[in-house]
Amino acid sequence: MTEQKFTGGFSQLALGVCYYPEHWPEQDWAEDAAQMRALGLRYVRIGEFAWSRLEPQRNQFEFDWLDRAIATLAAENLKVVLCTPTATPPKWLIDEHPEILPGDPDSGHVRGFGSRRHYDFSNTTYREEAVRISAVLANRYGNDARIIGWQTDNELCCHDTAHSRSASARQAFQAWCQARYETIAHLNTAWGNVFWSMEYASFTAIELPFGTVTETNPAHQIAYRRFASDQILHFHNACCSAIEEHTQNQWITHNFIPMKDTQTDCFALAAPLDFVSYDSYPLGRSEFLLGRDEPELARRYMRTGHPDYTAYYLDQCRGLKNRGFWIMEQQPGPVNWAPSNPRPAPGMVTLWSLEAIAHGADVVSFFRWRQAQFAQEQMHAGLLRPDRSHSDAWAEVEAVVRVIKALENEPLPKPWAQVALVTDVSAQWVSEIEQQGQGVEAPQVTFQFYRALRRLNVAVDIVSPSADLSHYALVIVASMPIVSAALLKACEQSDAIVLFGPRCGAKTEEFQIPPNRAPGVLQPWLNLQVNSVETLRPDVAEPFEYKGEIFQSRLWCEDLSVATATIEAVYQENRPALVRNGRCLYLATVTDDAFLRRLLGDLLKEREIVTNELPEDVRMMRRGSVNFAFNYGTASYTLDVAPGAHFFAGSAELPPRGFAIWRNE
Ligand code: GAL
Repeated sequence: MTEQKFTGGFSQLALGVCYYPEHWPEQDWAEDAAQMRALGLRYVRIGEFAWSRLEPQRNQFEFDWLDRAIATLAAENLKVVLCTPTATPPKWLIDEHPEILPGDPDSGHVRGFGSRRHYDFSNTTYREEAVRISAVLANRYGNDARIIGWQTDNELCCHDTAHSRSASARQAFQAWCQARYETIAHLNTAWGNVFWSMEYASFTAIELPFGTVTETNPAHQIAYRRFASDQILHFHNACCSAIEEHTQNQWITHNFIPMKDTQTDCFALAAPLDFVSYDSYPLGRSEFLLGRDEPELARRYMRTGHPDYTAYYLDQCRGLKNRGFWIMEQQPGPVNWAPSNPRPAPGMVTLWSLEAIAHGADVVSFFRWRQAQFAQEQMHAGLLRPDRSHSDAWAEVEAVVRVIKALENEPLPKPWAQVALVTDVSAQWVSEIEQQGQGVEAPQVTFQFYRALRRLNVAVDIVSPSADLSHYALVIVASMPIVSAALLKACEQSDAIVLFGPRCGAKTEEFQIPPNRAPGVLQPWLNLQVNSVETLRPDVAEPFEYKGEIFQSRLWCEDLSVATATIEAVYQENRPALVRNGRCLYLATVTDDAFLRRLLGDLLKEREIVTNELPEDVRMMRRGSVNFAFNYGTASYTLDVAPGAHFFAGSAELPPRGFAIWRNE
C-alpha cells in the first residue's frame, strides 16, 4: 500500500453511494447505474454483507451476479469499492462452527445468528475464514481496473462487539496475559491481586473480568481491554494482508464508527489502511451523546446535530493517518436506530457533506442508494424511496454536486492546524473503568476542549501521543491518566505551550497510583502533586476564579500541593486549580465552556494566534486558501470577508442552516 496508490485513487472531490444490487431485481441495475451517473456520483460501494450470495455453501462460489453488477456499474463509468463480507458470516458457517459466535459480556449468553457482527475476534477458526474469503475475493478482483479499492469488513466493533465473554476469548486472554507478564507472580504483582485474595496460581486460572459480584480489579479490566483491542487489530491486520497480497493498484480502507465506540486503539487500527473512512450519522450520534445528560441541547439540535460533534469525528478521522479521508456512509434522512429518528432540517444533508469536505474528506458517499423494502432497515432513508421516487436527499446531493463542480480547479490541501489535542484509547479506558462516582469520561473532557477551540474559530488536529508535536503552538492533553514516554518526548521536542487537564499522569501503565503520586511522570514538568480527588454531583457547580473573573468548576476537582509553579486560578478555599510552570500548565478540574474559551484564547494570544469568538451555531474551516462557513442555527449571520472575495457557493450573508465557501482575493 503505497502513497502512490493512494494519490492515484482519487485526487479530486467526488461523491459516491452505498449500493446493494443483491437486494433488487437485476432488471433494475442498469437504470440504477444510469441514474447514479446522471446524479453526478462516481463511486459505488458494494458487497459488505453479501457472503451468503457469494458463497452459498462452503467452497461453492457464485460470482456471476457480482460480475454482472460490476459490469453494469462500470458501463456507466462508475468505480466500484468492493467490500469483504466478514461482518456477516453465513448460516452454514455458523452451523459448522458455532464457536465463532461471541458471548455477551454482561449476561454471558451467546450472541446468536440472525443479525450481523456475530463473530468473536478471538476465535481462530473465524479469523482463518475471514482471511480465506478476503483472499478469494482479492484473488478474483485484485487486478480488475473497475474496482478502485477495498473496504474491510464493516464498522468494526459496532453494536458493542469489541468485547466478548466466550471460551475463545478466555483462552486467548490467558495466552495474551502469559505473553505480557511471563510469570503468574509478575501478573499478580502488576495487578495487585493480593487485594481481596484475587491471586492466581497459573495463567490457565485467569478469568475474564465479567459477571462478578461487584467491580473487578481495574488492572484486570484494562488488561482485558488492551487484549481485546489487540485481538481486533490482529484480526483486521490479517484481513488487510490477505487483500494486499492479491491486489496491485487498489487501495484498502475501513469505515470507522465514532472512535470511542470502537473501544480500540484506532491509530493502530488505521495503520494498515491507505486512508480512513467514516460513517457519518450526525442526528443519531448527537442524540446518543446529548440525549441523556443534556436533553435541552439534544432538542435544540435534533434536526441538525450538534455543531461540533460531527466535526469532532471528522477531525479525528483526519488525525488517524494525518491525511485526507472518505465519508463512506453519509446520513441522507431519518435513520432507524437512535432513540428517536427525526428528519434532518432542509439543507442539512448538503451542509454535512460540505462540512466533511471542509475538514479534509475528499469523497462523500451516501448511505444508501435505495431505501430497503425488507428486513431490518426498512425505516432508514435512502436517496431513492423503495418505489424509486426521489427522497428529500436527492436534491441535496444535487446541491453538493454543484458545489464540487465550482471547486473543481481549486487546490484543496488538507486543513492545517496550530493546535493539537492529544488523545488515546487508554485515557477513555481508565475513565470508564474507574469512574469515581459519576465522574467524567475522558472523551467528554476532550470534546469540551474541542468545542471551546472551535468556537474560537481555531482549527484543531487530533493526534496520537506518539505524533510529532513540533509545529504546534499549543498542545492540549485534556485528560490522560497514563502518559507514555513517547508523549513526554514529543512535548519536550516541541516548544509549544502544553496544557494538561485533570487526571493527567494519575496512573501507571498497570493502573496503579504512581509512587510519587499524580501527576506521576509529569511532576518534573509541573512541580506539583495531587493530594486528593473529589467528584461532584452533576447538578453542582462551584466558583473558580481566574484573572479576577468567576467561572465554574464541576464534576471532578483535585486538591494540589504546588512547589515552585505559579498559581493562575483558584477554587474552593483558595485551593490552586490552574498551575503554570514555564510553558506547561495543569488544570486540576473540569470547568465550564466559558472558562476554557477564556484560557485557550489567552494562551493562543500569547503565541500571537488570532482568535475570534463565533456565534454558538456558526463554524468555519479552511483548506488552503478556501474558506468554509456553516450555520447550524436559525438566525442568519454576516461573514467578515475581504472586499472582492470570490464566492464558490453562498454569499457573505450566511443563511440559517446554510453554508458559504469563498477565497479572499
Ligand atoms: C451503519 C452501517 C450500515 C447501516 C447504517 C444505518 O452503521 O454500516 O450497514 O446499518 O448504519 O444507518
